[in-house]
Amino acid sequence: MAAESSQTMTTPTDAELVQAQADLWHHCLSYLTPMALRCAVQLGIPTAIHRLGGAASLPDLVTALSLPTSKVPFVGRLLRLLAATGILASNEAGMYSLVPLSYLLVDGVRIDGDASQTAFVLTVTSRHFMEAAIGLADWFKNDIPPPVPSPFEDVHGAALFEESMAALDPECDKLFNESLAAHDHMGIGTILRECHGIFNGLQSLTDCCGGDGTTARAIVKAYPHIKCNVLDLSRVIDKAPRDGFVNYIAGDMFHSIPPAQVVMLKLVLHFWSDEDCINILAQCKKAIPTREAGGKVIIIDIVVDSSSGKMFETQLLMDMAMMVYTRGRQRDEQDWNAIFVKAGFSDYKIVKKLGARGVIEVYP
Ligand SMILES: C[S@@+](CC[C@H](N)C(=O)[O-])C[C@H]1O[C@@H](n2cnc3c(N)ncnc32)[C@H](O)[C@@H]1O
Repeated sequence: MAAESSQTMTTPTDAELVQAQADLWHHCLSYLTPMALRCAVQLGIPTAIHRLGGAASLPDLVTALSLPTSKVPFVGRLLRLLAATGILASNEAGMYSLVPLSYLLVDGVRIDGDASQTAFVLTVTSRHFMEAAIGLADWFKNDIPPPVPSPFEDVHGAALFEESMAALDPECDKLFNESLAAHDHMGIGTILRECHGIFNGLQSLTDCCGGDGTTARAIVKAYPHIKCNVLDLSRVIDKAPRDGFVNYIAGDMFHSIPPAQVVMLKLVLHFWSDEDCINILAQCKKAIPTREAGGKVIIIDIVVDSSSGKMFETQLLMDMAMMVYTRGRQRDEQDWNAIFVKAGFSDYKIVKKLGARGVIEVYP
């Protein structure tokens, strides 16, 4: 049968074959784009362009970065790739300028707080993260009973978020935590501006896995009458800033979640397996009142959408990132629905899609 169907495949034409080879080069060598991005961040190219007024020529940049003049042609080639891949913009006069993406890589850039994403770039392109991805085929072949460790755990014997990371490499652990903060803190301002309906009329909210309270403080700043709890592990809560705006509670969400009208899970569930998500959501349900009394869970996470064009590819890359680095996954609407039903919820609504993410309300 296989032989028969293979006979039906027409031999590619010469033009298709040379195009296929070029496409293969593109796929195999595309890893050099994140390496070029890492290099740009390490050299401080976006920050230098920003300091030079938002646009700079190659000679200006080489001077500003104090690079040897012997490297001018090589820097030119790096800038050309960064511009071709949309990381920078360039014009015919040979000027390179920032685009919104590279604006996020300027040191100290502020959008509703520190928005620089340089730690994220440096983390996901670091040796430990690359090694986890290189070991993927071995991981697939290895038949380990559940819970299946991630390729990262398999290769390094350490898991993200756990104390084993500091033992593996304290520098990597520090960078990962900075990267997580940069990744997580961005976006709450946009959500507050674009989705105010979800907070209107709320009296209390528990930010489950709320980290250092940045998100909860932004909510209280916008809605001072909302009483906000922040639940996280004691090692996180012990270091959180005490400012009187929010109520910090150390605990384990798998055991209990502080009661409130609403529980929020922002960028949490994608780190967990379906089974864990069902357990977490079941705890959320115990913590909130009925739908009639305004009870709901707010989830901010990726909703994979195959009709979203380029965003779909980004969402799938984020899913691969979850698979390689954690035991979690990204979910499409059907996956989310199945989890909500299994956790005992009656209904949900995708309130808004913002970039790659969605804002979902889930009702008891
Ligand atoms: C990705 S961060 C959450 C980001 C945060 N919600 C935000 O948007 O800024 C994951 C957090 O979950 C916390 N966490 C992990 N396991 C937990 C548990 N069992 N109970 C409570 N918090 C937990 C971690 O300490 C970490 O702060």
